[in-house]
Amino acid sequence: MLSSPILLDYQSSTPCHQEVVDAMKPYWNQIFGNPSSKSNLAGISSSAALEVSREKIIQKLNLKNQKIIFTSGATEANNLALLGYARDFHMRTGSFGNIITLKTEHHAVLEPIRQLAKEGFTITEISPQENGLINQEILLKAIKKDTFLVSIMLANNEIGVIQPVNDIAQICKSRKIIFHTDAAQCIGYLPLNLISRNANMITLSSHKIYGPKGVGLLIIDEDINLEPLLFGGGQEFGFRPGTIPLPLIVGFAKAIEIAINNTEKNISKLSLLRNNLLKGILKTGNKVLINGSMNHRLPHNLNITFLDLSGSRLHKELKSKIICSSGSACSNGMPSHVLMALGRSLKESESSLRLSLGIQTSHDDINNAIVIINNVVHALRK
Ligand SMILES: Cc1ncc(COP(=O)(O)O)c(C=O)c1O
Repeated sequence: MLSSPILLDYQSSTPCHQEVVDAMKPYWNQIFGNPSSKSNLAGISSSAALEVSREKIIQKLNLKNQKIIFTSGATEANNLALLGYARDFHMRTGSFGNIITLKTEHHAVLEPIRQLAKEGFTITEISPQENGLINQEILLKAIKKDTFLVSIMLANNEIGVIQPVNDIAQICKSRKIIFHTDAAQCIGYLPLNLISRNANMITLSSHKIYGPKGVGLLIIDEDINLEPLLFGGGQEFGFRPGTIPLPLIVGFAKAIEIAINNTEKNISKLSLLRNNLLKGILKTGNKVLINGSMNHRLPHNLNITFLDLSGSRLHKELKSKIICSSGSACSNGMPSHVLMALGRSLKESESSLRLSLGIQTSHDDINNAIVIINNVVHALRK
């Protein structure tokens, strides 16, 4: 019998934690009232559960003077932050200012910013250094008189590189520029003090942290106003109308709680396994490039380029044995814009693997993955 492939693609999505599934259970068919229907008992119970979840997240993330807007995921949270803030800025000031971002951002940041360019704003996409990190001098030089919004992700979904967002937040704050960070990949993998306290807007996603798909959130400073993307009921402070998906939010709150309670354990387990994986691949003298800084990196991410190898053959051979990714889950088969921004060629980007570990990954998984990768690469080089 064929053994099932080894899952090393946890940055695409994660299975719901059993405790998350259990926490959601009553909210499908027992406590199912519309949280906005506060004139009846069913709605009141749901509304109370919604606010308990919201408060739990605020406490767990140690938020101060900030509020949470629930969305359908990180894509929507990024769109709401960027389109919502920029359009509100334009309505208030009558001017189109400048927005700065990094070339290696997720498409859910790059595309709304490019949409804003079509609407009249000017945009600056900074190149990272070869190790994937932003050069703060370059950021400082890029800031113009009319720069009003900066969006730099906390950790990259393809190369795992962790940007110095607390420093960037300080740079922005001292110039009265609003700073947004996409932290979709981070909860449970980074200490909370690295998850910017100083950013004005922060995006999170549930399904990257063992919560359900279809829910995410945007944290914003109390005094920030956003032009909503949708119009309808007044839910979520009027910023995101629509009936609240209570089971998903209850599950998300549980996933955040579990992730934060286990951060230290996750970091030590996953970084050890990830480092073993890298050592095992390097041991055979494989000609590889490591994409992104190893010193400033999520503990569960590895991204490597196998030199002088056909990417399509590499992926074809690995497909039935290891579930992994050549770029982000959302890149639709296009060469990775992240690897290209680091200076990799098209061929090098194609022969790259993103290997991302999860809490279910075992030592055996890693040992077996090393053997499989080394055998496949050896066979392809013959
Ligand atoms: C950094 C980052 N931002 C945004 C997204 C989009 O998240 P969602 O699937 O919750 O819309 C992803 C998903 O890959 C991501 O990794």
